[in-house]
Amino acid sequence: MHKALQGTIAVPGDKSITHRALIFACLTSGTTRIEGLSPAHDCLSTVGCLRSMGVDIDLPADVETPTAIVTSKGLGGIGKPSKILDAGNSGTTIRLLSGFVAGRPHIYEFDGDASLRKRPMKRVLTRVAEMGASISWLQTEGLAPFRIKGGELTGKRFDLDVASAQVETALLLAGLQAGAKTTVKLPHAARDHTRRMFHYLGVPFDAEDELTTSVSKLDIEIPSKDMVVPADISSAAFFMVAAAIIPGSSITLKNVGINSGRTLILDVLSRMNADIKVIGVNSHSGEPVADIRVRYNGELSSATVTAQEIARGIDEIPILALAGAFCKGELSVSGAEELRHKESDRLQLIADNMRAIGAELDLREDGFTIRGSKQLKGGSHWATADDHRLAMTGMVANLVCENELKLEETNSPRISYPNFADDLQSLL
Ligand code: S3P
Repeated sequence: MHKALQGTIAVPGDKSITHRALIFACLTSGTTRIEGLSPAHDCLSTVGCLRSMGVDIDLPADVETPTAIVTSKGLGGIGKPSKILDAGNSGTTIRLLSGFVAGRPHIYEFDGDASLRKRPMKRVLTRVAEMGASISWLQTEGLAPFRIKGGELTGKRFDLDVASAQVETALLLAGLQAGAKTTVKLPHAARDHTRRMFHYLGVPFDAEDELTTSVSKLDIEIPSKDMVVPADISSAAFFMVAAAIIPGSSITLKNVGINSGRTLILDVLSRMNADIKVIGVNSHSGEPVADIRVRYNGELSSATVTAQEIARGIDEIPILALAGAFCKGELSVSGAEELRHKESDRLQLIADNMRAIGAELDLREDGFTIRGSKQLKGGSHWATADDHRLAMTGMVANLVCENELKLEETNSPRISYPNFADDLQSLL
């Protein structure tokens, strides 16, 4: 008999919104108080890089949900960095900041850990080079480490082939420093935290349609404005799936961000007949938030995730695969080739781990079909490649397999959710 999850918790602040709050505070002049900041190590990478550029960020150490105070002088206050900018494991840090510094009149060198050094950087850098920044690859073309010499930028139109909110945001940040209008069009809807935060702070932009956003040179002073970060739905997702597959579970997750560019996990679990309720919709600094209640509702049913919607839940696919492994039919995921370029090749690792615990899975270049089973034997090695989302998926899988898994490591969750193990334990 598996242990049920019971109780109410608040997961830490949203990682995507935290990166933006820290960086966008530097578009404004004055002091910004950011409440509910994510304690993720990825966000500390953004803090470290901004501090190296001369931004004053006051942040208490070792607090699960810290409040940060950013004191900024606007874009003009972004100085020459005191050292190489180390983005650690964080794709959002390196990509957003690459766009952010492209118009500053200094030289910026970026690097990251072994995983980040394998991730594609041309999607931002060739485009900011087209706008006028000078780029040098310091070891391998297309990969970190690299150098950006910021300069006079000219605006451009970019029609992206991948629905990447990171790339969109990086180019809009560069566009705020360019001499003519910059337009970025996404192929499908993704998280729109950037638009919402621009709107909240008073940074001018044009939303031509749901997918197309334009900005021009930011030539007005924007006064600072305090922000509150909602709880991270990508972190909450691990508990949602656990409660949906473990009999007797009933949990409530407090003040979770429910931006429609992030809610695929709610949609798919509902399609699978999980008992999910979104309660008391409210708003934090322009972002919708709500409590989410999940109760075990019997075996889950089949579902399909399509290429058009995948960007709305790309980070949740590893844990959704586990829901698929326990459903009555099958879970099919398509259009997810981006997962091969995340902190690890997540599609391959999902396939290897799920097969090792006893699930039947067909892997494709852009997704997989996993057939559900009532019981999975487990007892196998669970590979993580130091990827936080794989490690947390393994920790949940460990609750539902017949035999204990041999988790490769449990350290990587610090990247997005340092207290994950304790919070999971507190619900059991
Ligand atoms: C993010 C966007 C997504 C997501 C990442 C955070 C963001 O990446 O996977 O964890 O904050 O904009 P892509 O937009 O590159 O898919």
